[in-house]
Amino acid sequence: MSGLEVNKILASIILAILVVTVIGHLGDIIIDVEHHEMEETAYKIDVPDTGEVKSGVAPKEEIIEPISLILASASLEKGEKLFKKCSACHNYEKDSANKVGPNLWNLINRPKANVDGFAYSKALAEHGGEWGYEELAEFLYKPKKYIKGTKMNFAGLKKVEDRANLVLFLREHSDSPVPLP
Ligand code: HEC
Repeated sequence: MSGLEVNKILASIILAILVVTVIGHLGDIIIDVEHHEMEETAYKIDVPDTGEVKSGVAPKEEIIEPISLILASASLEKGEKLFKKCSACHNYEKDSANKVGPNLWNLINRPKANVDGFAYSKALAEHGGEWGYEELAEFLYKPKKYIKGTKMNFAGLKKVEDRANLVLFLREHSDSPVPLP
């Protein structure tokens, strides 16, 4: 009887040791998994984060402020000065010649790519629509982005005030300037 008892006790002890060992290992495994998950989560959050930051920043960079609200208070004088950035390639007087770029007389609400005798790029020729105030301002923000493939080599005007001043100046050069928005 006592032999059996001892066996039972020994068996219990061995079982207990086994259980503890297994649980210990399980614990390790669980902790490991948790670690792994934590790392993964941290990594996963990081990636969309950078993604989000990137996609958050990129559109932020690309949010093109409309000029309509500030157009009425824009400065013709500053617009004229800003036109120096354009004058290497554009005239704006009535019936003036095309240069590297087309004449910009009567530009507001003019159909795009509409100047006779100017060889537009396919990209601009096929773009369609008119040069409304905001279309023009968006184009001037970053021409190559607004019309991919345009041959107008101009980096763009990042300041909304600059775009408003310049657009106001261009608006003036028409027989009947389009009413302000
Ligand atoms: C380096 C020369 C160059 C400069 C500088 C330049 N442009 Fe242009 N621009 C062009 C060319 C070339 C085109 C024709 C683009 C095409 O066909 O893709 C053009 C086209 C345009 C058009 C479209 C006209 C139409 O008939 O559809 C507008 C508007 C315009 N430019 C405005 C401006 C303004 C405003 C500036 C100054 C901020 C400016 N450009 C600076 C060369 C230039």
